Amino acid sequence: MSSRDALPREDRARDDLPARDPHIPVLLQPLLAAVAPVRGLWLDGTLGAGGYTRGLLEAGADCVIGIDRDPLALQMAASWAAPHGDRVRLVEGTFSALDTLAGEPLDGVVLDLGVSSMQLDQAERGFSFMKDGPLDMRMSQSGTSGADLVNTAEETTLADILYHYGEERASRRIARAIVAARTLEPITTTARLAEIVAKCLPRPKPGQSHPATRSFQAIRIAVNTEFTELAEGLAAAERALKPGGLLAVVTFHSLEDRIVKRFLQLASGQEANANRYAPAKTDTNARFDLVTRRAVGPDDAELAANPRSRSAKLRVARRTAAPAMSLDPADIGVPQIVKKGRR
Ligand SMILES: C[S@@+](CC[C@H](N)C(=O)[O-])C[C@H]1O[C@@H](n2cnc3c(N)ncnc32)[C@H](O)[C@@H]1O
Repeated sequence: MSSRDALPREDRARDDLPARDPHIPVLLQPLLAAVAPVRGLWLDGTLGAGGYTRGLLEAGADCVIGIDRDPLALQMAASWAAPHGDRVRLVEGTFSALDTLAGEPLDGVVLDLGVSSMQLDQAERGFSFMKDGPLDMRMSQSGTSGADLVNTAEETTLADILYHYGEERASRRIARAIVAARTLEPITTTARLAEIVAKCLPRPKPGQSHPATRSFQAIRIAVNTEFTELAEGLAAAERALKPGGLLAVVTFHSLEDRIVKRFLQLASGQEANANRYAPAKTDTNARFDLVTRRAVGPDDAELAANPRSRSAKLRVARRTAAPAMSLDPADIGVPQIVKKGRR
């Protein structure tokens, strides 16, 4: 079995498909069904094209606070949000600070993780190896870019990022090739990075994903500190939700889903390896009760309408009255990478 064959199903499926249509929000109907009836003040921590925010408003939310770290998402929202008046509050920021950005207790929080199709489709944002562009990858359009990272990080750090954030088995070989290439000339474009990675791996068979899929995912996660954001965002939701408030998270790859699953297991007092057929134990200190005991994926109709939804998973939990607790990201499986720059 080649390392390509070992790719998780969702990772093989994603990059050769058309980008996610911004007008088709993923898993929105199952999400709304799981959190019904929708009432009160909700927070959408990943506004994007606003599909979830609009869905929540139509389902009965009094008001939705829409947060995104990408200034472009906020600019675009200005036009579609106007008819909703003060039922939509737009905030530029990161969901790791959602409790302070909201400033008041919430009835619900939704997070739809990852990049939007608007971001993937714009070559100049540098997220896609399918389109050549500057190696940027910053959702917020500020801070350290993909090019900064690949041109300055130490080889061991690059290898750790590729391995832990992309599950790339050839991480050391690719890191070595990146360092060799950048000593000749800085790596500044997505096409150049994709070419360097592709040369380290076997040619993909028909139906397999581009060899750079995992490396691009890993570097994007590192550039946007996505796993730290996720851990802090889950903890912030725990602090911000009222007793009875709902948390719904949609993930797009197994690494993200593992972190959300582990958080909800810990926060709901479920043991990680408990027999799934045994009745759920009641833990009076639990900060959440699980609404979905197992992750919910797309049904056949959604898969047919939007093949990119294939890798999406929804988990929903309800906040209890137990006090919020501090969280060590390592406890929910966030890989700890010590970043070292080139000396
Ligand atoms: C998959 S899209 C969301 C799509 C949205 N649910 C819709 O229906 O249009 C993810 C969005 O979340 C934003 N995002 C990702 N991580 C973020 C973070 N930590 N804080 C704030 N926004 C984030 C991205 O910039 C992107 O616009």
